[in-house]
Amino acid sequence: MIRYSKTTRILALDNKSIGYAVYVNDAGYLETLYFGKRLAGYTDFDCVRKSGEFASPRYVVQTGKEEGYADGFKAACAPLEVSPHGLWDKRGAPLIVRSKEGSFETDLRFKSVRRLKGVPAIEGLPHAHGDAETADILLEDKNLRVRAHLYLTIFADKDILLKSFCIENFGRKAVRLTRAMSMQLDLPRADYDLVHFHGRWAKERDYCCNALTDGIQEISSNHGRSSAEENPFVYLKEKNATTDSGEVIGFNLIYSGNFKFRTLVTPFRGLHLLYGIDDEDFEWKLSAGEKFFTPQAVIAYSAEGTDAMSQTFHRFIRENLMTYADNCEYKPVLFNSWEGCTFDFDTDLILAYIDDAVKIGTELFVLDDGWFGARNTDAAGLGDWKVNEKKIDLKRVITHCTAHKIKFGIWFEPEMINFDSDLFRAHPEYVLGWGKEELSLARHQFCLDFANPEVVDNIYAQMRAFFKEYPVDYVKWDYNRTVAEHVSAAYPADRQGEIYHRLVLGYYSLLGRLTREFPKIMFEGCASGGGRFDLGTLYYCPQIWCSDESDPAQRIDIQFNTSIGYPLSCIGSHVNDSPVAPYSTKAALALFGTYGYEMNPNKLTQEEIDTLAKTADVYRKYHRDVIANGTLYHLRAPYEGNYMCMQCVSQDKKTSLVLFMNKFKELDVFRFVRLKGLDARKRYRNTLDGQVHTGEYYEKIGLNFSEAWMNEFSHALVLLTEVTK
Ligand code: DGJ
Repeated sequence: MIRYSKTTRILALDNKSIGYAVYVNDAGYLETLYFGKRLAGYTDFDCVRKSGEFASPRYVVQTGKEEGYADGFKAACAPLEVSPHGLWDKRGAPLIVRSKEGSFETDLRFKSVRRLKGVPAIEGLPHAHGDAETADILLEDKNLRVRAHLYLTIFADKDILLKSFCIENFGRKAVRLTRAMSMQLDLPRADYDLVHFHGRWAKERDYCCNALTDGIQEISSNHGRSSAEENPFVYLKEKNATTDSGEVIGFNLIYSGNFKFRTLVTPFRGLHLLYGIDDEDFEWKLSAGEKFFTPQAVIAYSAEGTDAMSQTFHRFIRENLMTYADNCEYKPVLFNSWEGCTFDFDTDLILAYIDDAVKIGTELFVLDDGWFGARNTDAAGLGDWKVNEKKIDLKRVITHCTAHKIKFGIWFEPEMINFDSDLFRAHPEYVLGWGKEELSLARHQFCLDFANPEVVDNIYAQMRAFFKEYPVDYVKWDYNRTVAEHVSAAYPADRQGEIYHRLVLGYYSLLGRLTREFPKIMFEGCASGGGRFDLGTLYYCPQIWCSDESDPAQRIDIQFNTSIGYPLSCIGSHVNDSPVAPYSTKAALALFGTYGYEMNPNKLTQEEIDTLAKTADVYRKYHRDVIANGTLYHLRAPYEGNYMCMQCVSQDKKTSLVLFMNKFKELDVFRFVRLKGLDARKRYRNTLDGQVHTGEYYEKIGLNFSEAWMNEFSHALVLLTEVTK
């Protein structure tokens, strides 16, 4: 519910469990009064506005007098929704607008507020939807002749708040946005730990937990994509918070480009937080009458530890973000050709792969990189999306899949170009940064200038023609380098600060067009493994390839950590032929995601085929209701000891799957793991020892994984099913 009282000037947003309150002060700034568990009333906040700082004086030019604000506003430390820029408050504004005269001062003050049903649509950007209400707060800077709508959305059935801005130039001259972030959050305390997910290729999303330090900390990406180096999912947790206790506030951004999450622990011991598009190299010319929409920031609140926050994000992503119609349905067992044969294949080999892939339960065969243009290595072909008929008879491959009653999918890397390609020979100016004497290369490729709509149209036409000719069920959308030169020949000098953001808009425009026109095709995101694992991509793609590292030694952490912010239903995870762990362990781990394979299937032994086919059966039976749409509990993080344990419980609490995975060989007598989320009174049989116990027993005593010795990367996959007789 959203209420605004003109008497108290308090705006309150709440649902059944959380509440948020904002006070419109005498000066017209929005003071953040409260964020936390729902309150019975939202009037009694006088003490919240107390602090050691003196109230702010001001000199009123018209009267020639020094005056204070009757309500004692303290400009440097009052928690605010939108700090001004260029005035007394030095904490950092979410929006900075440069006037036509060149000044930076940005002073947006309250004009009005209205209530909107649902979530506002964000032009050109992916955004959430669902049962929610929005406070549309209008702010205005009279000198700049700029207005900003601050959208504060609260969901009815989830502990989620959304924040974003729409900035509008209602003057006659252009202004320049030099910072356009999505949100500010000020809290009157700062004793939190900051958790973020740092990494690199094949080591994405490492768990990093540090105390918030005094001064500024920044988690950001300037790679032109959300990146493997930092993920936009970040959270704050109260000291000593655990998986099921303590306050946790999670943040994410519905965006796939450069971002910045910036915390400032102020000298007054408050927290000032900004989140949104990275302002490094950002500048947007806003001409008269134009609007700029920032991406939506998503905030999940939990008073009961990190798992409740995770579960809230999981439900939000499935129910309020994804647009793929079958995103909550069963996802087929996927076989991907990449790790088995990379570029080195012909029609016969692929047909032989398909024949053996079906033996391990494959329901969707994906031909990865190498099927188009002159692509026999990674040095050629990107940009030429025509089948290399000398190499592969794609129609025969598709017919072969149909004969086996399985689906067929294919790989694209739409935003890239090799200099050895027909597209480059015809249109070198399509390369981002074109015009310089030297351009950086990665994997022999350049980024296409997706800021230029003509380039996007060209790739759209090529992909559309392909989809019209070849009936594919699935597309893996890759993106194998970061952006370096971010200069576009299609834009004048005073618009080069827009390029990073325009590249992302180009990505969304192409993905949006194709997913709307071909709604039956399931798109899977990818970027050198998991380098673009973000909410912007998930809006269009119901799954994302998690990492090129499938070896459990690293993968346990990658998959566990990814699942803290993202539902298992979207985590592309495959069994490969890495020698570190047995196939049964690798398969059990891949099961906790969207299950698939990458290896040479012709080389599998009968025993390996049986193991994998058996796991595919488990996946078929339990993926939709237990893994993808169930509730996930992180029972033990892999970095908390020598084993990892995760558990999924179906919504009806009748079935649960537990994955226990050892890391090093170890002698350890007691390995009890207490389960969660079961119905205390229901009785469940477990497949670990075949016994039947109540939910209460499993929650209080647990499952006993003790063995005299447990080998390196051995595992136990335990199914619990309700026993009614
Ligand atoms: C990077 C991806 O992560 C791999 O799975 C594979 O598709 C290669 N690109 C192909 O170039």
